[in-house]
Amino acid sequence: MAVVDRFPGAAYNAGPAAFPRLGALPQPPLRVPPIGLVKLCYTLVHAAEAVGIRDLADGEFLPGDYTLEQGIERQLNKLLDLVGCQRPGFRLLEIGCGYGHLLRLAEARGAQAVGVNLSPEQVKYCNQHGSTAYCCNYRDLLVASDWHGQFDGVIANGSLEHWVQPEDVQAGRMDDLYRESFAIMHRCLDPRRSDARYVTTAIHVKREVKPEYLLTPWYRQPRGSDRRHFSLLHNWMGGYYPVAGQLAACAEPYFELLSASDGTHGYKLANDYRLARMTRGLYTNPKLVWRLARALLRHPRIAATMLECYYLEQSWDWQFRGEDPPMQLLRHCWRRRAAVA
Ligand SMILES: C[S@@+](CC[C@H](N)C(=O)[O-])C[C@H]1O[C@@H](n2cnc3c(N)ncnc32)[C@H](O)[C@@H]1O
Repeated sequence: MAVVDRFPGAAYNAGPAAFPRLGALPQPPLRVPPIGLVKLCYTLVHAAEAVGIRDLADGEFLPGDYTLEQGIERQLNKLLDLVGCQRPGFRLLEIGCGYGHLLRLAEARGAQAVGVNLSPEQVKYCNQHGSTAYCCNYRDLLVASDWHGQFDGVIANGSLEHWVQPEDVQAGRMDDLYRESFAIMHRCLDPRRSDARYVTTAIHVKREVKPEYLLTPWYRQPRGSDRRHFSLLHNWMGGYYPVAGQLAACAEPYFELLSASDGTHGYKLANDYRLARMTRGLYTNPKLVWRLARALLRHPRIAATMLECYYLEQSWDWQFRGEDPPMQLLRHCWRRRAAVA
């Protein structure tokens, strides 16, 4: 599939506003099958699209804001500023691009934006709504040489939480997977750019959690306990969160950390808007009800876990609740190191 061809190639060093044209990118060879649970999670989460929920990460809200979309757009624009996407022609890669909102905002800034995503439903939505996305696992980019050196910036907004599974933690692979992810982004960024950046937003656990808690069925854990919430979350979404500082350790020697900020409150507010809309939708939106019913028929075990987790026990909301919530949302901006030791 050819990628946007709107910025005919000026010489790379012709001036501060010049970016090379992003070439045609082939579909990355499918090398690493996606985690089944994560892929299924986004097939089920697609039900929320019926009530217009197409933004699945945190927001940045100001006192006068009164919609989910206002907070989301402010946060996405902030990420674009952080990654340096401020001039036409900027070549942006988004890892886990969801329904393509960030890609479309980048394109409105004149960027050449491309996403990868393992959800076929979301990739289809992106490509039907004016953005360019490829269906693959981000890990496929490790050896997709046509993609290497092609980008001025990379963003992973809320996808990193799925990259490690509790089984990986048990097998001692967690840091290796994060290290590999930094190696992949390092390869995808253009080595000629001295200021190429990678921006991540990710939920972190405040204290390490035993992977066994996530792997024990939730209905065997005491109701209301942290273990039960962790198990519900994992058995719906598939994933395991890092602790603060872990990513920075794994980023060496590929990236240096430029900035870190806390977006926990914005995530909580975004979740409140989404939960209110999803709850209203149960009574008012037949399309949502139909999609949830179909999910239950097709995938009874995981869809029931999703409903238990999201609506009944509200484990998703629990993550960010209270004065000292168990999770924090951290946004990081990384600069590509020129030489890898
Ligand atoms: C929480 S959603 C965030 C989506 C989007 N960035 C947003 O802000 O709405 C996580 C996204 O990451 C994608 N994702 C998770 N693991 C992935 C992987 N290994 N490779 C590619 N995409 C992945 C999911 O399909 C989903 O689109």
